[in-house]
Amino acid sequence: MAAQTITVIKGDGIGPSIIESAIEILNKVGCDFNYEYVDAGLTALENSGELLPQETLDAIARNKITLKGPLTTPVGEGFTSINVTLRKKFNLYANVRPVISFKGTKSRYEDVDIITIRENTQGMYSGLGQTVAEDGSEAEALSKITREGAERIVEFAYELARREGRKRVTAVHKANILKSTSGLFLKTAREVGERYADIESHEMIVDATCMKLVMNPAEFDVIVTTNLFGDIVSDLCAGLVGGLGMAPGANIGKDCAIFEAVHGSAPDIAGKNLANPSSVILASIQMLEYLEMNDKAERIRSALRDVIESGDRTTQDLGGTSGTTDFTQAVIERL
Ligand SMILES: NC(=O)c1ccc[n+]([C@@H]2O[C@H](COP(=O)([O-])OP(=O)(O)OC[C@H]3O[C@@H](n4cnc5c(N)ncnc54)[C@H](O)[C@@H]3O)[C@@H](O)[C@H]2O)c1
Repeated sequence: MAAQTITVIKGDGIGPSIIESAIEILNKVGCDFNYEYVDAGLTALENSGELLPQETLDAIARNKITLKGPLTTPVGEGFTSINVTLRKKFNLYANVRPVISFKGTKSRYEDVDIITIRENTQGMYSGLGQTVAEDGSEAEALSKITREGAERIVEFAYELARREGRKRVTAVHKANILKSTSGLFLKTAREVGERYADIESHEMIVDATCMKLVMNPAEFDVIVTTNLFGDIVSDLCAGLVGGLGMAPGANIGKDCAIFEAVHGSAPDIAGKNLANPSSVILASIQMLEYLEMNDKAERIRSALRDVIESGDRTTQDLGGTSGTTDFTQAVIERL
């Protein structure tokens, strides 16, 4: 079988250095991938005058699997978020954000293991009906949820729970106030839940969810929710395991997937060899699992865990003094 080609977008700021770490590790573990490098974000704007060149879109469509560093969306009018554009263009409806505790990270809990499944294309982030009155006195935006959209994301969550041997799916909503949109999501989630008798189905209002996540994260297993709530709740979850440097995300559609760090391009530490590459390393683990290369995924996870737990060669955000390259070498030495 021909080797899988992965589209790689190194990204901006700390992107190139953390993507390089992940690729060194993938190579070390014996992944026989071809890499097709393309640009997006500020780098692409500087090189080709476009934030998201057609060549990049073609490579994403052709290879189906993309590993992506964080992108800087320039501030100012006329620049739509590249991430939102990619999710819409390739219909990457499921955003899968796992968080898992590693001993040795600065966090309150040692036993967090939660996957948030966020609907990625609808709700408050669909960009529909955005208007601002000419005098700046009023602004409007439209939130739209479809039954089909709700059903496929909730089904995705239950299927993932079943596949990964998880016990419980919690549908997070605000149907008591947002009766139409969140109401439709909750109604659909209840219907889908009934089809999965082997998985416990729970539901929780989003504000209570935030409180309970902070007080007792062990109560949660798989969370499924709409776009805006998922964005916020998944960052809260990242905070439970040591911050954004430890948080990967996968954007998954019917036949295309983009794996990424969830944090931004961190301009404050770019070029200083300070970035924690764990988020992209964990994203590449998600990518290997998606490709059913579970043994290699587990080997990397275990080496990463070992480096973080031993604490002697970690980056500053994890309380250590090592740089990105030394941290990466420490993982490679354990493989
Ligand atoms: N997925 C993406 O591409 C994505 C996501 C969020 C923000 N952005 C973009 O990134 C740029 C910067 O955004 P921001 O500063 O608000 O958020 P950010 O996530 O880049 O940084 C927030 C803080 O976290 C730190 N940090 C982030 N990643 C780290 C890592 N791997 N290791 C150590 N520390 C890390 C940064 O140094 C900074 O102090 C903006 O242009 C924004 O649009 C892109």
